[in-house]
Amino acid sequence: MKLSRNLAWTLLLASPSAATDSLLTPDKLEADIRTEELQNVLWNLNKIARDNGGNRAFGEPGYKASLDFVLERAQKRFAREMDTYVQPFNHTYEKTRKIAVTGPEGEDVFVISPQYNSATPLPGGITAGLIDTPVNDETGSMCLEEQWEGIDATGKLALVKRGVCAVSDKLKFAKAHGALGVILYNQAPGTDYAMPTLGAENIGLVVPVGIIPLEVGESWRSRLAAGEDVVVNLLVDSIAETRETWNIISETKQGDPNKVIMLGAHLDSVQQGPGVNDDGSGTAALLEIMGSVKQYDGFPHKIRFAWWGAEESGLVGSLYYTQHLSESEADKIKYYFNYDMIGSPDPIYAISVDENSGIGPQLLGDYLTSKGVEIEFGEFGGNSDHVGFLELGIPATGLFTGAGKPWDACYHLACDDLDNIHWEALTVNTKAAARTLGTLAHSLEGVPPRATASPNRRTRSRMAQNFRRWAALAEGASHGKMCSHKEGKQVD
Ligand SMILES: *[C@@H]1O[C@H](CO)[C@@H](O)[C@H](O)[C@H]1NC(C)=O
Repeated sequence: MKLSRNLAWTLLLASPSAATDSLLTPDKLEADIRTEELQNVLWNLNKIARDNGGNRAFGEPGYKASLDFVLERAQKRFAREMDTYVQPFNHTYEKTRKIAVTGPEGEDVFVISPQYNSATPLPGGITAGLIDTPVNDETGSMCLEEQWEGIDATGKLALVKRGVCAVSDKLKFAKAHGALGVILYNQAPGTDYAMPTLGAENIGLVVPVGIIPLEVGESWRSRLAAGEDVVVNLLVDSIAETRETWNIISETKQGDPNKVIMLGAHLDSVQQGPGVNDDGSGTAALLEIMGSVKQYDGFPHKIRFAWWGAEESGLVGSLYYTQHLSESEADKIKYYFNYDMIGSPDPIYAISVDENSGIGPQLLGDYLTSKGVEIEFGEFGGNSDHVGFLELGIPATGLFTGAGKPWDACYHLACDDLDNIHWEALTVNTKAAARTLGTLAHSLEGVPPRATASPNRRTRSRMAQNFRRWAALAEGASHGKMCSHKEGKQVD
């Protein structure tokens, strides 16, 4: 009789040998995960943000402090069990330090800045008359050359409606038609609107912009239509420069270096908040799983943890890592698990799946189901650090509890703090992750090989399409995330 590897392993675990006391098993990893320890990590990350200007973002001191916090465990406390290195890389840091729009009567107008906005002359900004531009809510306003035909915006601030098409396209055409800047009015009423990104690649190609409410934009439009001169001021104080940042890669000394099971979470937050759920939750999960793994031995596969930098700027750290892997290094990574936002206050339990996910989603799902949690399987979005691994054909899955209302109303906001976590969700998801790792650390049964050449041309071309889309998104260097449950990366 030929025993399956799983069965042989079960028998091994059942054998009453003293040597198995320290044997790593799914049960032990699961049991070691405790809510209080996860709370402790998130308390620390929240404090790091509080002590460093409110965030842990790429290019900010809070990120460096977060890095040091993880290194204090991985590199110092766990030095006997883990090999840890810091992988540096560079990316364009941008920050709008100040933005203001002053109306024709000298009044302050509510305004937000997109990511990668251009600075106006300082300290005075741009004071100029508005020039109105046509609106097209179907195709988007002013993203096509023909929509700008006959418009001479020289020396003016162009008044343009937001929506549908990329803000950066509107700004490039405005520049080509002589505008000094753009006053963009929102497409929906109110002041509760999302921040778009212009993309790091458009630095230097666009004019400064301020995004004001629909109501204000429409009232200025009607004054222009009545023949009035409407003179306003736009002030943008922003900087863009290259800054160095870092990934942390930490792997068990034990295990076959040719068979690596990898877990990743991003360590950076957005500039707007402390990032306790996004992605302190995944960061804490990995730290606690590492703290459990390091107590055991007897596992044949190497376990590698990654804390990614600059995820919020467009998956920059994880893509830097995957793009610098040789073919043979990529071959050695047998599975990648991505944990980004796994403790949302009103959680869904979403497990990502694609053609090549193999047994991973099922292992996660079976555990969660056994705990009475209602799960759903969904496709990967181009939203997180799995993208580079999928590009390489490495089998992958991940957990995700939802971003934006209703799942996480504090998504990318200052209130993504210690109160923005569903502790039971974070605990059960971390246990699911630990258990699943415990299984794959022993057996690759049900794990497909790396998809380097699929015979199915349709699948391949669909994957290639997805990858191009993801790559394009990543290059956009956004703060946003795309997934059925995450807010779209806002470019429009
Ligand atoms: C980042 O940029 C700095 C300054 O240009 C350079 O010295 C450094 O080598 C770069 N680091 C990487 C990892 O490319």
